[in-house]
Amino acid sequence: MNVYDSDRMADVLAPIGYVATDGPDDADMVIINTCHIREKAAEKLFSELGRLRNIKEHRLEHGKATVIAVAGCVAQAEGAEIIKRAPYVDIVLGPQTYHRLPEMVARVSRAGKGRQKNKGILDIEFPDEPKFDHLPEVTAKGFSAFLSVQEGCDKFCTFCVVPYTRGAEFSRPFEDVIAEARAVAAGGVKEITLLGQNVNAYHGETVKGETGSEAGLGRLIRQLAEIDGIQRLRYTTSHPADMTEDLITAHGDVAELMPFLHLPIQSGSDRILSRMNRHHRIDDYRRVVDKLLMARPDLKLSSDFIVGFPGESDKDFEATMDLAREFQFIQAYSFKYSPRPGTPGALMQDQIPEALQSERLAALQALLEQNQITFNQQCVDSVVPVLFDRHGRKDGQLVGRTPYMQPVHVQAPPNLFGQIAAAKLTAAHANSLGGELAGSVNHPMPTSEIERVSA
Ligand code: 5AD
Ligand code: SF4
Repeated sequence: MNVYDSDRMADVLAPIGYVATDGPDDADMVIINTCHIREKAAEKLFSELGRLRNIKEHRLEHGKATVIAVAGCVAQAEGAEIIKRAPYVDIVLGPQTYHRLPEMVARVSRAGKGRQKNKGILDIEFPDEPKFDHLPEVTAKGFSAFLSVQEGCDKFCTFCVVPYTRGAEFSRPFEDVIAEARAVAAGGVKEITLLGQNVNAYHGETVKGETGSEAGLGRLIRQLAEIDGIQRLRYTTSHPADMTEDLITAHGDVAELMPFLHLPIQSGSDRILSRMNRHHRIDDYRRVVDKLLMARPDLKLSSDFIVGFPGESDKDFEATMDLAREFQFIQAYSFKYSPRPGTPGALMQDQIPEALQSERLAALQALLEQNQITFNQQCVDSVVPVLFDRHGRKDGQLVGRTPYMQPVHVQAPPNLFGQIAAAKLTAAHANSLGGELAGSVNHPMPTSEIERVSA
C-alpha cells in the first residue's frame, strides 16, 4: 500500500510542478514514506533522515532549498516526536492527509528561511472526508496496477499497529473503485491488485452516499472483471475470518481472479492464535481453504507467519512447522515477533528471547523455502500464461509473472512487452523460473489453468 500511496503523492504534487527524480541529490523535496509494522522498518527512518540532513545542508551551500517530509505510519505514530528529534524535517504527515500536501508545501515555502527549527508542519489527523475524494484521477503506469479499496482495520490482533496507525476500517464506494479501474484499464493496465490492510472486510457502498447499499469484495470483483482490458485480478491482504461465501464462490466463477491467494495464518497453534486475538482457529482456516479449493481446485496459497510471539512454547512452534507442512504454501513471509508500542502484545509478560526467535525463524524459513522450491519444480514442463511487464537483464529477454506470481525469464520479441502470452516453463530456481514461448503467442491466453504439456 505504501507503493500505491507514494504514487498518489506524486500525482497530488504533479500539478504544482513536481516530478520524480532518480535520487535525493537533485530533489527540491524528499518524502520518506514509512512503515511502522515492525521495529526494523520503523528504525530505518532516522538513519535515512541523517543522510538527508547532510544532503539538505550541502544543497543549501549551493543556494538550493530542500523540503523534507516524513509520511506514512511512523509519521502517524510518532508525530511531533520526529520534528523534535530531527528539527530539519519540514513536514510530518499521516497516511490519511497526503491529499493536503500542496497546501503544506506552500506553507513551507511561504515561511522560507524564516522558518524556525522545530516548527515543522504536523498533519496527522484522521479527516472526516476520505482523502480519496480529493485526489486527482489516477493514470496508468505500466501493465499491472495497485488499487486501494479499503484501509484501516477493526480486528485488533494483539501484535498489530495497523488499527492505531491506519485507523478504523474504511471502504471506498463501488463507483469510485470502478472509475479508477476503468481509467487504468484505458491506459493499458491488464492486471489490478486490490489493496487493503484487511481487504476482504471490504464493504463499499454500491450507491455512493447511500448507507445500507454496501456490498462485499466478491461482488466488486465480479464487476471489475467486466471491465474491458482487465485480464487479471488479485487482492491482498486478507483475513481468514472475512472469507465470505460470495468471495469464495467468486474464485470459482471469475476466470480473471488469479488462482493465488495471500491468506495470513500467523501461527499453527490455536493457543497462540487466541492470544493474538485472531478470531479464528486452525480448523476454521482449514475449512476456508477446503471451500476455496472446491471452488477453484488449482488455487495455491501464500501466507504470513510470526514466530516467537509472547508465550510461544516449543510445542506451539512445532504446531506452526506442522501447519507449514500441511498447507504447502507456495510462498510465505515470516517474521520474528516485534513488540509494537501501544499494542497489547507489547505488554505481555512472557516475551521470547531474541536468540530463540531467530532459531525458530531460521527453521521455519528453511521449510517454507523448500515448499516454494518444490512448487517451482513441479511447474517445470507446464505451459502457463505470463504477463510480460519488465525487460530482463539479458538482450531480448522479457520478464513476466505467472498466475502464481512467479517471475519467469523468457527470450521474447519486444512486441510481447505488456502482453499475456503462453510460456513453457523449462527451469526452476528458488525465486523464479526460466521459460520459452509456446503456442499462439499473439493471443492473450485464458488466464485460468495451468495446462500440462503432454509428452
Ligand atoms: N511483529 C512481527 N510481525 C508482524 N506483522 C504484523 N505485526 C507484526 C509484529 N508486531 C506481520 C504479520 C502481518 C504482516 C503484514 O506483518 O505477519 O500479516
Ligand atoms: Fe493487523 Fe491484519 Fe490483524 Fe488487522 S487483521 S489487526 S491489519 S494483522
